[in-house]
Amino acid sequence: MSEDIVEVLITEDAIQKRIAEMGREIATAYENSLPILVGVLKGSALFMADLIRHIAIPLEIDFIAIQSYAGGQQFSGAVRITKDLDSFIEGRDVLLVEGIVDTGMTIGYLRRNLEARQPRSIQLCSLLDKRARRILRVPIGFRGFEIPDRFVVGYGLDFRQLYRNLPYIGVLSDDVTGLSHGR
Ligand code: IMP
Ligand code: MG
Repeated sequence: MSEDIVEVLITEDAIQKRIAEMGREIATAYENSLPILVGVLKGSALFMADLIRHIAIPLEIDFIAIQSYAGGQQFSGAVRITKDLDSFIEGRDVLLVEGIVDTGMTIGYLRRNLEARQPRSIQLCSLLDKRARRILRVPIGFRGFEIPDRFVVGYGLDFRQLYRNLPYIGVLSDDVTGLSHGR
């Protein structure tokens, strides 16, 4: 365990078991619809890679990368797309794949942006749900784990671009973040 991690919240084993279940649920939900899974970079990269190996139906993947505008102290919800999809999603069944939903502002923005392209359907799959901090109501069709209001890293999630390579979800020490709840 990295010494910056004060607690392992979700073990590698638990993550992998849950992802296998989610993959089966998604396969059932999207049978015969050739869904397109849209990963939100970079946090969802590991999750996406493991998840699709458990979805035993034909599917496509694509990625979108975003940057949040930090409008002062309070996140404004304004998001800039830094890498757009390669695919056209009009008439398609889209499954957005996220690592974590916190306030819901980021995914809320993305969802509206993608809805404007008139897909047939759009649902959200998130490995983690930090529900206590939700500002915007966002329905999560497929959810891995609900977690408490703590800053977590690992399995794709970062603090200042680090720790994404940890195979588990851990709580980062306040000594590292320098905050009680850092971004
Ligand atoms: P939201 O817009 O508040 O839902 O924030 C979503 C984004 O904030 C996520 O996609 C993450 O990039 C980041 N984030 C929120 N909570 C955490 C956390 O505990 N660890 C790492 N990143 C987080
Ligand atoms: Mg981040």
